[in-house]
Amino acid sequence: MADTVTIIDNRTGRQVECPIIKGTYGTPVIDIRDLNRELDLFVHDPGFLATSSCRSAITYLDGDKGILLHRGYPIEQLAVQSTYLEVCYLLLYGELPTQAQYEAFRADLNKRNLVHEHLMQFYSGYLHNAHPMAMLIGITGALSSYYHEAMDIHDPEDRDLTAKRVIAKMPILAANCYKHSVGHPFVYSRDDLSYVKNFLNMMFSVPNHHYDPPASAVRALDILMILHADHEQNASTSTVRLAGSAEANPFACIAAGIVTLWGRAHGGANEAVLRMLDEIGRPENIPKFIARAKDKNDPFRLMGFGHRVYKNYDPRATLIRKVCHELLEDLGTVDQPLFEIAMRLEEIALKDEYFIERKLYPNVDFYSGIILRALIIPTSMFTVLFALARSAGWISQWMEMMEDPELRIGRPRQLYIGPKKRDYIPIDQRV
Ligand code: SDX
Repeated sequence: MADTVTIIDNRTGRQVECPIIKGTYGTPVIDIRDLNRELDLFVHDPGFLATSSCRSAITYLDGDKGILLHRGYPIEQLAVQSTYLEVCYLLLYGELPTQAQYEAFRADLNKRNLVHEHLMQFYSGYLHNAHPMAMLIGITGALSSYYHEAMDIHDPEDRDLTAKRVIAKMPILAANCYKHSVGHPFVYSRDDLSYVKNFLNMMFSVPNHHYDPPASAVRALDILMILHADHEQNASTSTVRLAGSAEANPFACIAAGIVTLWGRAHGGANEAVLRMLDEIGRPENIPKFIARAKDKNDPFRLMGFGHRVYKNYDPRATLIRKVCHELLEDLGTVDQPLFEIAMRLEEIALKDEYFIERKLYPNVDFYSGIILRALIIPTSMFTVLFALARSAGWISQWMEMMEDPELRIGRPRQLYIGPKKRDYIPIDQRV
């Protein structure tokens, strides 16, 4: 039996054989590239719900079984045994580094963990109360002006250098969004600190006081960043790929990814979850919010619930809930009530028929905000942290795409439903 599907146009009797391509795991795909030539037809798939946009070896998701693999390694193992910086290496190069490779990677990043002093002046153009994601978009886009003429995106060495610059500099740009918002002086990156501790240092140290975070806080953030590092062809990653397919500057492509991630339906949900939990305020208010989430006339949705792919549970949410509980226990933080509201909301929602039949489960954003608040990171910075973590995934996917021999500029088609052809009417003859 040939691995093909036959598509027959019943209007004309014309047909085309389309190959079925199987991957390592997951749903096989129909290669429909001959469809338009043979049958003069397009496929129509708004939101790309059932469309594979590329071949990728970086991340695999199984939404029904709640599986997430990075280069074949289960997220549950990476979250417990790895570090974010090691996962960056894995996403970029496809293998876990040896000790020597890891040290060389770190040393390479340390050579690039400064940002041109002129770029630091860009922040002054933002009001102190500007949303940090608006700052990060602008600053990251501006970074492309420092690496443009001299960089050749078709040169593998330049691409590798670009990836290291993104991973080395994004923590600086992200932390400075917070520093600008509170009027504190920027803190320089330090080679002697781990990647995550260095970021927290740039966030919270001030000239007269060195911030030394508890080990549990550093580890919780490290795990949170591992869980946000990459996630297949989500909206923001698809944006980076589409911009990159036009051979745009990779730093500008990352800025485009940040723009998409800011959406409340996507990465902006972690901030929206905390604002929702704050609005709920007490467990006895939960039923009112559940009712609003179910009311079709109310645009309110239960932030942190649902996922385009995970129609069972998001394995990251399960891991984050555990990390959250352990951190709050360790810190003895006042955020226990918030965590209790979140757990109670999850418990009630998962017993409600509306959520059960629509397979709406807590996603990666549901508990992450509680961890970030426990780390005294302001709510408006939550999606910046998501963007920081995801920048490793974005640049890895960009690298993979630029190496793909099948790379073509992305150009979806459409179903035109506008007016038929008609002639122009001069304004003095219009009624
Ligand atoms: C991320 O793609 C990725 O991988 C994303 C991400 C990543 O790591 O990159 O995992 C990160 O973006 C996680 C998702 C964060 N967003 C939220 O938590 C926002 C709240 N969630 C929803 O906006 C929604 O669930 C989406 C956008 C996440 C998924 O949307 P879908 O799959 O397109 O779902 P849908 O709009 O088709 O909804 C199906 C039904 C609808 O009801 P009916 O029309 O069938 O009656 O479920 C309802 C929706 O109204 N529904 C919700 C709901 N989510 C869907 N109802 C109430 N609350 C919700 N959260």
